[in-house]
Amino acid sequence: MTGTGSIGRRLTLLLALVAALLSVLSWSMVTGLSRQAVARTQDNVLAASATTIAETLRSEQGEVRLELPYSAFSMLGAISQDRVFYRVSAGDRVLTGYDDLPSPTGAAPGIGQVVFDTGDYSNETIRMASVTRLVLAGGQPVPVTVTVAQTRSGVSTISADLSRQAAILSVAFFLVAVGFSAIAARTSLRPLNEIAASVSRRGPSDLRPLRRDAPTELAPLMLSLNRLMGRLGQSIRRSEDFIAEAAHRIRTPLATVRAQAEIALRSVGDETEKRRLRQIIRAVDESSRSAGQLLDHATVIYRTDDLALSPVDLAELVGQTAAALEPTAAMKEIRLDVAATPARVMGDPVLLDNALRNVLDNAIKYSPEETEVSIRVTTKEDQVHITVTDEGPGLGDGPLGALTERFRRGDDTQGIVGSGLGLTIAEDVLLAHDGRLDLKNRDGGTGTCVTLVLPCS
Ligand SMILES: Nc1ncnc2c1ncn2[C@@H]1O[C@H](COP(=O)(O)OP(=O)(O)O)[C@@H](O)[C@H]1O
Ligand SMILES: [Mg+2]
Repeated sequence: MTGTGSIGRRLTLLLALVAALLSVLSWSMVTGLSRQAVARTQDNVLAASATTIAETLRSEQGEVRLELPYSAFSMLGAISQDRVFYRVSAGDRVLTGYDDLPSPTGAAPGIGQVVFDTGDYSNETIRMASVTRLVLAGGQPVPVTVTVAQTRSGVSTISADLSRQAAILSVAFFLVAVGFSAIAARTSLRPLNEIAASVSRRGPSDLRPLRRDAPTELAPLMLSLNRLMGRLGQSIRRSEDFIAEAAHRIRTPLATVRAQAEIALRSVGDETEKRRLRQIIRAVDESSRSAGQLLDHATVIYRTDDLALSPVDLAELVGQTAAALEPTAAMKEIRLDVAATPARVMGDPVLLDNALRNVLDNAIKYSPEETEVSIRVTTKEDQVHITVTDEGPGLGDGPLGALTERFRRGDDTQGIVGSGLGLTIAEDVLLAHDGRLDLKNRDGGTGTCVTLVLPCS
């Protein structure tokens, strides 16, 4: 059977694709956010540093003075080992620090407000923070601007570090997600596999509707499967009905033909005529028997479809069946030796009788005259064995399993009426009862040993 690929694999692939997309997205988000956070931290420290310096500004004898507090720079060292620059200027006059440090461009800083900017200084990118304060110098308020700057390489390293860690986490997340996707795909496909398994576990004639809880998505499949099985069962039943009906309609006129032939046999004197009439009677017997077996087989299949189980005492059943075949055995002076221990099973008595009758009929039919057929009922652990042993020719050297096939007869059955359905019926009945039919040649001497094995109730 050629498939169109695996649903499981397709589902896993799709989920993995989604996981990959989410991984990349989360990685870029984490990277962006961490870069922002690091930048903001640097800004905050720069602002704090500039403000601290600005707070030390005071005027002394009309001059602006300041002390550079150590803490103002040490806090910058806390975030990275980047180089730090500063400048304090009153208007255009640089009071202290690096004169060539660029001043923050953009909006003119309001008094007490911190302004940030990014620029280039001595071939490196720097981040600057400026704050302006008014200082009284010579009776005049003079705006003094404190600018603190720091290079960004350390900060970039931190950002890159965080980004790498986020990448590792994203890859791990992706791998875990792929694993879960595979599990999820398998779990969601499990009901489908279970249904397939339960259908393939069934016996060939088990057409009961599937009664199992299935996810809603599978309900249409189950429904059409059950409908199909219903239709199939119906058409099988119809053909079995047809066989039964046909067999019945054949048997009745055959009985008439046989009766007429018997009467004719008695009234004719000519030997050739008599031989012909005997041939007719034999042929009629054979057809009638085949029709009977077909009817039985149809009944067996019909009844095993839904077995009506009731407690059956096998000792009693064996006694009855043996009694029913006693006259046939007596004609060949065959002795039926029945020994049965009470054994109870759950089963369909009509079917069990039919199975045993076919086996017993074979034993009588294929045995020579004046022999013995023994029937034993024994209990072994949780099984009941009905063993029928005869002193006939045995089952031959061919494969024994083949004898239970439909219409299969043995090699040396010439002259013995039969249809090849007896063992088929017996086996079907036993299989329907969760039992089996064991065929073997009798060990020690010739003969056949057929065992009907049934589970105890
Ligand atoms: N007790 C037996 N002794 C010898 N052969 C047997 C016996 N039972 C069955 N067989 C062989 O198995 C074949 C199949 O049996 P069965 O299905 O009952 O068909 P049949 O209508 O020929 O009896 C028979 O044709 C016969 O060759
Ligand atoms: Mg038979």
